[in-house]
Amino acid sequence: MFNESKFKNNLVTWFDEHQREMPWRETSNPYYIWLSEVMLQQTQVKTVIDYYHRFIHRFPTITELSQAHEDEVLKYWEGLGYYSRARNFHTAIKEVHESYNGVVPDEPVTFGKLKGVGPYTQAAVMSIAFDKPLATVDGNVFRVWSRLNNDERDTKLQSTRKAFENELQPYVEQDAGTFNQAMMELGALVCTPKAPLCLFCPVQDHCEAFEQGTVQSLPVKTTKVKKKHIKQHVYLLQNEDNAYLIEKRTQKLLNNMWEFPMYEAEEDKHINTVLGTQVIFDQTPAFKLKHQFTHITWDIEVFISQENVHKDDIILPENMVWMQLTEKEDFNFPVSMTKIYNFITKHC
Ligand code: ADE
Repeated sequence: MFNESKFKNNLVTWFDEHQREMPWRETSNPYYIWLSEVMLQQTQVKTVIDYYHRFIHRFPTITELSQAHEDEVLKYWEGLGYYSRARNFHTAIKEVHESYNGVVPDEPVTFGKLKGVGPYTQAAVMSIAFDKPLATVDGNVFRVWSRLNNDERDTKLQSTRKAFENELQPYVEQDAGTFNQAMMELGALVCTPKAPLCLFCPVQDHCEAFEQGTVQSLPVKTTKVKKKHIKQHVYLLQNEDNAYLIEKRTQKLLNNMWEFPMYEAEEDKHINTVLGTQVIFDQTPAFKLKHQFTHITWDIEVFISQENVHKDDIILPENMVWMQLTEKEDFNFPVSMTKIYNFITKHC
């Protein structure tokens, strides 16, 4: 028999004793809590901590962040990936500054209309910062709740998310922030995907999947659609001062970030065509790497020129500049390009 109050009590007692220290758990500032929840999407706690500290050190208030240039905000996000999270958060903070007097709305519907705020962020921020009775359903909660109920519904479906939110509602009528964080923490520390520590689980008595021996087969997720692979060619070209040519992206993905000139192999575009040059490049790539996004994978091949060019012989398109290796910090580079940069500094 599932005893609801005993379940919640066991879970929250365990959380009180075993929760990890996180800097955003020491604050009631909704701006900081919101920032942490945005950073934590798709990124692990241990990675987020340093980024979080640096970010709030530079942008301690909503006013300061709302007055910052997007390039600088992205610089503080560099390496975390999923940059639209940062852009949307920045836009939303500017909205809060302009329309709500710089005060994060504590009304869930109003908050939920801000840029980039989906059901997860809405429930997390509203419950943790303002104790509003909303249940968070993220990957951890999907796993924990599927197992507790031995529920085989497909967690990729919106209807399953809705059902879980409804089923969890009674538990968040009071102390929602604590309950939500306890569920997520249990998923992160005990009810893990591959080797859950059921023998140490504070709610093992309540777990239907443990009783039935089905823990390993839950949660059910429809097989992911296969990622599209895109073959990319990167051209490393230096001038007589040993500066490298870089280009600002104008595509939707990683928009406004910088890269060494890169073209899809299928387009058959070459840096020589773009610049009107005839530089000879090595035939074989010096370096290959893979970079994964949510829906696509880049298979990158990096080609190095055999000669340096004279900068005065070339008229650069307006989105290209020469960059000295020591100037990297002046530009926003996505992770894939930082890997290429690191390769250059080691081998070239
Ligand atoms: N994952 C995302 N946000 C979290 C939080 N506040 N506590 C635990 N895990 C989380």
